[in-house]
Amino acid sequence: MTTNGNNFQWLEDTRKEASKHCDPYQYLLDRLYYAEARNEEYKKSLLEHGVTAKKTPAMMERETAERFVSLLSELVNEKNTEKLCDKIADGLRSVFGYDRVGLMLYDENTGKIECVRSLGLPESYIENLHIDPAETDGEKMRNHVARCFSERKSFFITDRFKEKEFNIRMTGNHKVYSTQYAVVPVYGKLKTYGVVTVAVQPDNGYFMSDREIIILEFIAHQIGSALENSILNMKVEKFYKDLSSTFSTIIEERDKCTAGHCGRLIRFAGLVGRKLGLRDAELRELELAASLHDIGKIAISDHLLNKPGKLTRDEYEKIKVHAAKGAEMMMLFEDNKNVIDAVKYHHERWDGQGYPEMKKGKNIPFFARVLNVIDAFDVMINNRPYKKAKTISSARRELKKYSGTQFDPELCKLVLDLTDEEIEDIQRSG
Ligand SMILES: [Fe+2]
Ligand SMILES: [Fe+2]
Repeated sequence: MTTNGNNFQWLEDTRKEASKHCDPYQYLLDRLYYAEARNEEYKKSLLEHGVTAKKTPAMMERETAERFVSLLSELVNEKNTEKLCDKIADGLRSVFGYDRVGLMLYDENTGKIECVRSLGLPESYIENLHIDPAETDGEKMRNHVARCFSERKSFFITDRFKEKEFNIRMTGNHKVYSTQYAVVPVYGKLKTYGVVTVAVQPDNGYFMSDREIIILEFIAHQIGSALENSILNMKVEKFYKDLSSTFSTIIEERDKCTAGHCGRLIRFAGLVGRKLGLRDAELRELELAASLHDIGKIAISDHLLNKPGKLTRDEYEKIKVHAAKGAEMMMLFEDNKNVIDAVKYHHERWDGQGYPEMKKGKNIPFFARVLNVIDAFDVMINNRPYKKAKTISSARRELKKYSGTQFDPELCKLVLDLTDEEIEDIQRSG
């Protein structure tokens, strides 16, 4: 850590000692716990400049500790990068009560460190804050940010009264000073992602301590890991999405009469899944199952798939194989049991007269029952070479007729309750 003004040799020595321990952060926290006296120096400095310190730096007060722990668990569990960034900014402010919080990430497109989230800073200031990682010379905040990012080193600026320029012009001539600020690097195993900046203003009366910066570094480390995970997770999700849409295209290419069916079914699955209150991960599984439900048709001959007119009993038996075949093809995705089951059992009927295993009622996996209803409903309201599309109201009547025999009655009701607008919206997008 680099600081200006005071002698921080103690902290550097402590840090060196900590690196020899198996849990360096715990060691640092323990050491720093006994070093609160150092805060008195800052307090004195603030008082000399007419700033009243209202709070003592009770970093690990019960309430703060609880918020701290809940922030950490939220960061670990958040897999969406955008939501994660929101949680980082809001979390830092709520845990520590900083006046200003900035999350700045390196943007590979612009080659600059860009502020992606900020609290307490004026919009106009943020808009112009594109920091080149090379502008490390100087003592302005942007130079500290560049150095922090390039050298992976924290900067804790405690004695700003000695600086020539340490203010930010907020509006007009109104200047608001940050008495202290810290810039901490955010990095994961793969690379440095950016920095977190925090600052306090004099009217807050709050002041940061060495101990707090260590905790901030600890959080920044968690942020780096969470960010890395969320980026990897979103890449994996995108890969899955691309893969399933490629498969949908292949299926529809083989089975020409189902053009647009998979795409519409994904949207039906999303709509119904949200109404069912599924969590994000479950929703993604259901959508994936919708896109792949007929993947087994790849194994069915062209002659059968595109045969105009009615199928013979024997031909129909051959087509029926697609459900089990699809599940077989997906066996490699062993972590996606819900998806595989949905593909395998999407033609089972509530009354046990479906295929491939004649499962009955709630023995049919839930996602398969959902697919069963929306699959049939989409077929009803769209043209196929062998039949004309029904109107929405006529399809609703048909669905109602088979509720409790072919379809799960509860899920049937949910689909029956979809509004015309919701259905037409999906039809237009297909
Ligand atoms: Fe099917
Ligand atoms: Fe289908």
